[in-house]
Order: sequence, then structure tokens, then C-alpha cells
Amino acid sequence: MTRPEPKPWISEIHAYVPGKSKSASGKPLVKLSANENPLGSSPAALAALAEAHVAADYPDPDARMLREAIAAVHGLDPALIVCGTGSGELLHCAVQALCGPGDEVVCSRYSFSLYPLLAQKVGATPVFAAPEGHGASVDQLLAAVTARTRVVLLDNPNNPVGTFLPPAEVARLHAGLPADVLLVIDEAYGEYVDPAHQSAGFALAAAHENVLVSRTFSKAYGLASERVGWVTGSAHLIDLVNRMRGAFNVSVSGQKAAAAALGDQEFVARSRNHNATERARLADAIAMLGNHGISASPSEANFLLVHFEGTVTASQALEALAEAGYAVRHLPGQGLPNSLRITIGTAESTTAVIATLRRLCGEAA
Ligand SMILES: Cc1ncc(COP(=O)(O)O)c(C=O)c1O
Repeated sequence: MTRPEPKPWISEIHAYVPGKSKSASGKPLVKLSANENPLGSSPAALAALAEAHVAADYPDPDARMLREAIAAVHGLDPALIVCGTGSGELLHCAVQALCGPGDEVVCSRYSFSLYPLLAQKVGATPVFAAPEGHGASVDQLLAAVTARTRVVLLDNPNNPVGTFLPPAEVARLHAGLPADVLLVIDEAYGEYVDPAHQSAGFALAAAHENVLVSRTFSKAYGLASERVGWVTGSAHLIDLVNRMRGAFNVSVSGQKAAAAALGDQEFVARSRNHNATERARLADAIAMLGNHGISASPSEANFLLVHFEGTVTASQALEALAEAGYAVRHLPGQGLPNSLRITIGTAESTTAVIATLRRLCGEAA
């Protein structure tokens, strides 16, 4: 049969696998599987969304008002910002602009599951650097760089592990890279880290030609459904991303909601504080199950990666949590068959997750 056939490297990939929201039997579950914001969205963003707009018209192709709002909040040059259909679109653009067959894209062994797909979609080869614990190791990332490396992708904090490389370590990684290798610092969870560390990536991107920092409105800003992200970097890199991106890539509602959300930093602070409180509560409860072989990687993000190395398995915990009404992320396809990534949800969700894990271990809830 003759039919359109993809390039050989496309035959080898699969579609991105999103977090589940239903049990195996189809029962709807509370989603702790996609790192969404349990507080929802800023009331200011919701008000902007409710405002009528003309759906028949294309959005501003340059998202000018939104870029100016981002620049004002972060002290950046609006000309050095590009907005995208989520930060995912812009990660695609960067890799697509620089890589093709024969090139290599380096990332840590456990990092965002989209990264290898970004490389494979353009015929490049993903190269996984050995981790330290489960998190990224600067030495191993640098050791994985070869003459074929075009891009190093660093999610900081890391997804699915949650670990965070402090600014000095990221600077050391950058210093060890050849000037023609792009370092992408993916800060999708950047608003959750210590505010003192939040702008170090921007400073690195402003000072060098080969650093791009990405941010998203999908996590702490609670606007995952609107699909808005952005990058900042040198004029050269911004020009490349602009050439690659979709022409009208951020909807009118997305631009309005994101700009309004930026004006409500109180909501972002509330999201960060809620996350810190509930993450500590879940981490403490998991530490108390250490005698059952259960532990969590340190996290600065809005989730915990929980490891099951005792009699209770990750599959059993996945099933018990689904039974209790919660979907979490099992990542055997990423080489983590004994771990579950659990998004920090409402206080009620944390209580239910703790009770379920304790019950599974035979401990009083
Ligand atoms: C590390 C990381 N980067 C980027 C993204 C993409 O987010 P979005 O395309 O919604 O901005 C995610 C989403 O989960 C993520 O975990």
C-alpha cells in the first residue's frame, strides 16, 4: 500500500503522554498528575477571561502588551521576550532552529518527558546525562557534551524529580559549555523556588549569547488551559525563536488573562506559600514511612517524586490512590518504575494521600 510515510525518525517517536485524570475503570479522579495549580487561577485573570472579546479577530501576533507586562514584573527588555503557546512551543522552536539529524541534545537522565521528543522530532539524538541521586549533575551534563551537542536542556526545578540546581551550579554548567552550544534553562516551576534565586537565570541569559530561559503561566499562575509561556535571551536567540514560532501563537484570551495574572502577584505568593506548606506536610509524612522503604526526593517544585523500595510497590500505591479518588503519575516509561510523582494539591488532597499511603503500610491513618 502506498501512503504518505513519515521521516524515519518520526516513525520512532510517540505522542506526548499527558497525566491521567481517570481511573482504569473510567472513574473521574482528582488530578495530582499534571502539576496544575490547586488554587485555580487568579480572580483578576478570571475577570479578564470573562470580559467579552471579539473572537473573530486574530490576536496581536507580537503579544506586545503581554511582553511589556512580563518585562515590567521581571525587569527585562520586552524586545528580548517571545511569548508562545505554552513554554512547550518555544522549547520546540529553540531545538528545531538549531538541531537536525546527527546533532545531539543533552538532558539529565530524569527530566521533562518532552525533551527527548523535541530532539527526535527533528532527527537529532537525545543524550541522557547520569543523574546525581535522581536530580541533575553539572559534572555529568558536561561530561555528556560532545562535538555534536547543539543544545543542553535543564529543567530547573527538575520535572519529575523536583530538585533545584542553585545559581552557582547553573553558572558552572554554563561556563563549561562551548559558546556555540545553547543552554536552555526551563523554569516552568521557577515561581515556586526561593525568591532570592528566581532571577539568576535571567541574569545569565542577559549576559551571554547562548542562554535561553523559559517560563510558563501554566503552573504558579494557574493558567494551564490558556497555553501561555515565554522565553528571554539574547537578540540573536530571540530572533531565531521568532522565526520558528506560530504566527498568531497566543490567543486574545491567553494574552489578556496572562497580563492580568501578572498584575496579581498576591495570588502567585499565595500559591507559593500554599505549595510550601502542603509539600512540607506531605514530605514529613513520607519521611515517617521511611521504615517501609518509602522516601521522597527533595523538591522545590509543586510536586514530590516518591520512591517505593519496600514491600509496598509504586503500582500498589498508584492503585490505592486511584481507589481513594486521586490520579498521580507513574513513570515507568522514563525509567522510574518504583516511583510516583505526586502533585501538591489542596490540603484535603494532601490529607487523603497521606492517609492512603499510611493505610497501605499498615500504619494508623
Ligand atoms: C519542566 C517543564 N517544562 C515545560 C513545561 C511545559 O509547560 P507549558 O507548555 O504548559 O508552558 C512543563 C509542563 O509540565 C514542565 O514540567
